[in-house]
Amino acid sequence: MIINLEDLRQRARRRLPRTIFDYVEGGAEDEYTVNANRRGFERYLFRARTLVDVSARDQSTTLLGEKLSTPIILGPTGLAGLVAPWGEVLAAKAAANRGSLFTLSTMSICTIEEVAAAAPSPLWFQLYVWKDRGVTRSLVERARAAGYRALCLTVDVQEMGNRERDRRNGFTLPPRVTFTNLLDVFRHLGWVLRMSSSPRATFGNFIETGDLAKKDAVSVAGFTNKQFDPSVSWKDIEWLRSIWSGPLVLKGITCAEDARLAVEHGVQAIIVSNHGGRQLDFLPAGTDVLPEVVDAVQGRAEVVLDGGIRRGSDVVKAIALGARACMIGRPFLYGLAADGQAGVELTLDILSKEIDRTLALLGRPRLADLDRSALRMEPQPAA
Ligand code: FNR
Repeated sequence: MIINLEDLRQRARRRLPRTIFDYVEGGAEDEYTVNANRRGFERYLFRARTLVDVSARDQSTTLLGEKLSTPIILGPTGLAGLVAPWGEVLAAKAAANRGSLFTLSTMSICTIEEVAAAAPSPLWFQLYVWKDRGVTRSLVERARAAGYRALCLTVDVQEMGNRERDRRNGFTLPPRVTFTNLLDVFRHLGWVLRMSSSPRATFGNFIETGDLAKKDAVSVAGFTNKQFDPSVSWKDIEWLRSIWSGPLVLKGITCAEDARLAVEHGVQAIIVSNHGGRQLDFLPAGTDVLPEVVDAVQGRAEVVLDGGIRRGSDVVKAIALGARACMIGRPFLYGLAADGQAGVELTLDILSKEIDRTLALLGRPRLADLDRSALRMEPQPAA
């Protein structure tokens, strides 16, 4: 029976080969930050008010002018199409059906155009800056031509994080059957069969370029480290502005100084994110950083919290701390692995129902009623 996101996670674990599940689940090095994201939410308790009329509840909001039925958007996750065939298309359709928004990763299996053609929008495109600025420019132009609403630049992948699970598993693109994973692949023949209807098993947006045009398998970290530009700096934001006239979002801000710089560079939204603990290990939990970013921004940009959301109550806490919405990664991939598009819709339904119930029990029926007075810190044990 699936009643919460942990149930979906368990089903995803059973359905996916270990190499793919570990790719989704894993973080960098000791996975301190992966776990910190969860603990961060647990440190906040609620201050509930009673005898408030909560009969009319409303969790709808807007983000960069888009109407959202629930304050949750689907984040960019590279290779979602390895979790289920046409994974990015299915997730985008699910988001549209639930009044949410889907962000397509540069590193997707499905292409910019395939997702735009299938999903009734709204869509954001997540960009990584490539050393070859011609490639970067062409990605941005393709996203514009396909009608993506905002460009979301991820700023925390100067180099791929040290994902030790992927290294141990010998994770490559396309995924290979090796002596080590033979038994595991055999146990997941359902996945192998399902994937036979996948359009491809590598990065769709670059199928014709560079190493991918050769037929050899590439290591994901090796490929990206070769292509991504580690020299990207604030002056490139000005360059991006010159080639993209729509809203610009920065994903991966974790301190007040960078939040202020983002605002000074005319960014419309900031995603407070440690990349779900997949990049720099020992970054603090998103909830530890969010208040300082919200205070630094002072309403000049919209702030989204990303990382570790597993309950509707987490979303309510983030909004009380000043976020406008939350972004999820792994939770919708669990849904996608468990039951395709319906599984992603279920992820959003579970979270949205939990948000609704939390708002009622908290005595704050609308998102606008939430502020920091809805929270208290977990008491610390005496030293
Ligand atoms: C990601 N994430 C990510 N972020 C990004 O900007 N570009 C990308 O291509 C990817 N790829 C990616 C793949 C997978 C499998 C995961 C799990 C995550 C990070 C993602 O957008 C988001 O920041 C985290 O997933 C948020 O943490 P939770 O919700 O997974 O705890």
